[in-house]
Amino acid sequence: MMVEYDKHYQTEKLFGSPYPELIAFYAAITQKGKLLDLGCGQGRNAIALAKLGYEVTGIDYSIIGIEQLKKVAKEERLPITCMVGDIYEYSNFNEFEFILLDSMFHFRKQEREKEIQFLKKIIESSRLNTLITICIQNTGDKLKVLNKIISELPNLEIFKRERLIYKFEDEASDHSSKTEYEMLTIKKL
Ligand SMILES: C[S@@+](CC[C@H](N)C(=O)[O-])C[C@H]1O[C@@H](n2cnc3c(N)ncnc32)[C@H](O)[C@@H]1O
Repeated sequence: MMVEYDKHYQTEKLFGSPYPELIAFYAAITQKGKLLDLGCGQGRNAIALAKLGYEVTGIDYSIIGIEQLKKVAKEERLPITCMVGDIYEYSNFNEFEFILLDSMFHFRKQEREKEIQFLKKIIESSRLNTLITICIQNTGDKLKVLNKIISELPNLEIFKRERLIYKFEDEASDHSSKTEYEMLTIKKL
């Protein structure tokens, strides 16, 4: 099956570098461990986090993205398990101490309920103390929706909340933009 991102990922490093704040957050954690990157794409976060000492599993349904990630992991001998698949079909959340969802939730009307149920499933089935980090664009009512969902879910606490600016630069078209993001980490209780 060809997915939309297979086309986008013809551009190498489409999303650029990881957010410095995300790297600083994960670098500061002394006890590293197993980390699940849901919708890892070409692996901009997976690669950087493996370099920090995390044992990363990345899942994405873009075969092209996963192939690119596999290549880097092999060349740089990084501990990354790469899987092609639908994150909504995944269920082994309890194998990880860290779960990352970067730019995976949009809360558009058509998908909102599905995304909420998925987040619930992750929280319910993950281990105690798992840190679940969600990076979401702060546009429209996305952040408001996320905050409402989080406030209504049991068994979690807000571990850290940070606002960041994502700078996107497309050299080919000389296009650049700045978008505000929220990086929210919740802890499973
Ligand atoms: C906006 S990109 C973000 C990529 C990566 N998280 C990052 O921040 O660099 C969204 C990614 O999610 C993947 N994706 C979207 N829905 C998915 C699903 N249901 N199962 C697996 N991957 C999915 C896409 O293929 C794409 O690589």
